[in-house]
Amino acid sequence: MRRTVVANWKMHGTHLEGERRAAAVAAALRAARPDAVDVVLCPPFTALERVGAALVGTGLRLGAQDVFWEDSGPYTGEVSPRMLAALGCACVIVGHSERRAHLGETDAMVARKVAACVRHGLTPVLCVGESAEERAAGRAGQRLRAQLRAALAGLPPGPLVLAYEPVWAIGGGRAATPADGAAGVAALRAELQALWGAAAEGVPCLYGGSVEPANCRAFWEDGAADGVLVGGASLDPASFAAICLAAAEVRA
Ligand code: PGA
Repeated sequence: MRRTVVANWKMHGTHLEGERRAAAVAAALRAARPDAVDVVLCPPFTALERVGAALVGTGLRLGAQDVFWEDSGPYTGEVSPRMLAALGCACVIVGHSERRAHLGETDAMVARKVAACVRHGLTPVLCVGESAEERAAGRAGQRLRAQLRAALAGLPPGPLVLAYEPVWAIGGGRAATPADGAAGVAALRAELQALWGAAAEGVPCLYGGSVEPANCRAFWEDGAADGVLVGGASLDPASFAAICLAAAEVRA
């Protein structure tokens, strides 16, 4: 499977700054073999159109950081999957722990968002991960399985990306150890296999949480993960490009 590298810019930068950042990433990756790695940039909603235009012809894909589950209607402030598809988005991050923590997003809401993406041909990048408390209580595996099952309830096999994002490893510069990252990814793969059977094999399973150029390789070594979801380090085009180039290296 090709490696996948997703940039989550979170709430950083104006549309103009996003356009410049996207152009810088594309320029840094121009020499790389474009078919060796699947790169997705997920800017804030306000920058989607400009970033999308900057990515035309580069082979890099556009994604959003969230979506609402209805196509249109009286939902002030929300953005629908139809709108994202019309802007050329290929993917949408769904269920990020920051939305679960700060915006009260529940497993049931995440499931509706996943289904809405699928209806519009958008690949959900489904984030699941345990908190530090759940981990300390020995409930990490249980939590991952529950989040995954809830998010995919009733969904037939189809385009999907999974991201194991331990909440305690996000944004703090304290990445999971490669072994912990691999264990989380393995738990997700096993659960998806139980749900989808052989169809689970085509689903990239990423690690996310304080990934940097210096530590990224360890997360996909020996096929542990199929790639990475990058937050903070994706804001610096040189750092993000370094991660993408590492992911594009030919495997032994
Ligand atoms: P981080 O964010 O790389 O800054 O830890 C990752 C994420 O939130 O997806």
